Parts: sequence; structure tokens; C-alpha cells
Amino acid sequence: MKNDKPFLTDVRQLRTRARASIKKGAVTPDYEGDVKQAIEILQSVLATEIVCVLRYTMNAVAATGISSDSVKKEFDEHAKEEQDHMRRVAERINQLGGSPNFNPEGLATRAASQYVEGSNLIEMIKENLVAERIACEHYRELIRFFAEKDPTTRVMMESILVNEEEHANDMHDLLVAHEGKPMLPKS
Ligand SMILES: [Fe+2]
Ligand SMILES: [Fe+2]
Repeated sequence: MKNDKPFLTDVRQLRTRARASIKKGAVTPDYEGDVKQAIEILQSVLATEIVCVLRYTMNAVAATGISSDSVKKEFDEHAKEEQDHMRRVAERINQLGGSPNFNPEGLATRAASQYVEGSNLIEMIKENLVAERIACEHYRELIRFFAEKDPTTRVMMESILVNEEEHANDMHDLLVAHEGKPMLPKS
């Protein structure tokens, strides 16, 4: 699947979705309401992480071409780390009394980032960079949202964000190495 402007479209969508959820919190300041809302937000993070696991795993298997071995290794490493994020978010949903939603039905619409495969090595790297940048922006917003209301979730999201920023940086380095020039979408 090819998308001409995945970055802009996704950021707009995720902002709308994140803002809508955050607004709900202001009108239901009771504890019960917050927990329900935290679970709802984390379900979307879980879906985002599952999509990341799928995309990197697919890329690691499908990557071909000159010097694809080192790129495959990087994709594999990221797939494992995304799986760890997925597991931690699912555990947190469970701790909060929710049931982590692993249902493949509707997965893509629950996730903040799209599943875009990329038809060659460079496109795969670009799509991953786009997805990582979306995750970073989304998670930064969520960290500000959880703030002091739920420090445990916030700290978890902060540690995942550190990892996502490394992922974005890795993809950017690969792109520079393979294409000879940086590709950073203007934001
Ligand atoms: Fe992740
Ligand atoms: Fe990532």
C-alpha cells in the first residue's frame, strides 16, 4: 500500500483523537473516569505498538538488495523492542483493570500510525521513520496528559519514548547511509 502523504494525514488524525480523549477527562475528573480514560488511551497505544511489531517483522523478512543484511538486522532489533513495548502497555492495561485489546479486527483504525509496507528498502526505511515520528509526537502528548495524574503510566510512556526516538534516529541514519541525503519531513 502506498500513501503519498502519510505523515501529515496521520498526525492530523492522531491529534484529533488524542484531543478528543483528553477533553473527556476534563468533564469526568472522578477517579473511575480517569482509569477508564487511561485504559482507552492505552488501547490505542497498544494498537500502535502491534502495528509496529507487524511492520518491522514484515520488513525484516522482505528486505532485499545491496547491503540489506545490516538493515534487516536493524528491522529485527526494532521488531523485538516494539514487542517489548506492546507487552508493557498490555500489562499496564491489565493492572488498571482493563483487558488488553489484541483483536486484529479494527487494529489499523485503533492505531495512531498506519501500516505501510514500502516496496523497496529505501521506502521501508522512510515509512518506518514516518511511523516513529508519529509515535514520538503521540507519546509526547500522552506524557503531558498523564503528568501527575498517573505517574506509573507516564514513566512507562517516557521510557518507551526514549526507545522510539532511538528508532527514529536509527532509521534516519540508515536513510542517510543508503540514500546519501537526509529526508526529514517539515513539521
Ligand atoms: Fe514502540
Ligand atoms: Fe519504534
